[in-house]
Amino acid sequence: MTPKTTKRPDGRANDELREMKAKTGIVKNADGSAMFSFGNTVAIAAVYGPRKLLPQHLQNPEKGKLRCYYDLASFSVTERKKPGPSRRSSEISFVTGKALEPVIRLDNYPNTVIDVYILVLQADASTRCAGINAAAMALANAGIPMDEMVTSVSIGKMGDIIVADLTKEEEDFTIEKNGKEEKAATDIPIAVLSRSKKISLLQLDGKCTKEDVKEAVQLAKKVSSKINQVQMEALKKVK
Ligand code: CDP
Repeated sequence: MTPKTTKRPDGRANDELREMKAKTGIVKNADGSAMFSFGNTVAIAAVYGPRKLLPQHLQNPEKGKLRCYYDLASFSVTERKKPGPSRRSSEISFVTGKALEPVIRLDNYPNTVIDVYILVLQADASTRCAGINAAAMALANAGIPMDEMVTSVSIGKMGDIIVADLTKEEEDFTIEKNGKEEKAATDIPIAVLSRSKKISLLQLDGKCTKEDVKEAVQLAKKVSSKINQVQMEALKKVK
């Protein structure tokens, strides 16, 4: 039996997000850029394009290509991360592209590429979600037509409670079972499209029931409007 875990380590309510901050236009050389943070997790994104895709044989006359690159800065985590790409960063780059693609009108830009670079400056869990939020803002800041915004949040199961926006401490939550410490947290990063409320990303790391996943999706949809509000306020501030 899992013991009742009634309190989050930082005292937040189960559906409460960490403080969010967002800003656009932070990389002047880029066509669009943004920063998004959930508490101590800080991500920046820079968009270049649409520009001609080279080499030419990669071009598609029907639609443009979206390329996403996610990276965790070496100094963003307490134990220095080895610089350069990894299986983890390739996976996150891939799912980030999939999360963003449904809202971008790539058929407006045949033979071109839109490059989205995401760099995590500080990591305290949910970095892929903060990266997606920053990237969606950077795309809008670059003036790329989008049907709606993409908002992302990590919903988790910590012991027996479903919580929004897990910290690293919560992701590492353990319980004692048969005299041994056992991981008792599940991380479910989700991306919700702002208007249609469609899901463009759903991953699951850990164990949970079908009902838990349903509850997680409901909670992600509920909190997504708060994330979108922060994104839109920052986008409106652009001069
Ligand atoms: O960051 P996200 O939750 O999207 O992905 P994750 O692979 O589940 O990583 C969870 C957390 O582990 C990150 O946010 C970092 O805080 C930490 N981490 C780390 O300390 N060192 C790494 N090389 C990778 C992740």
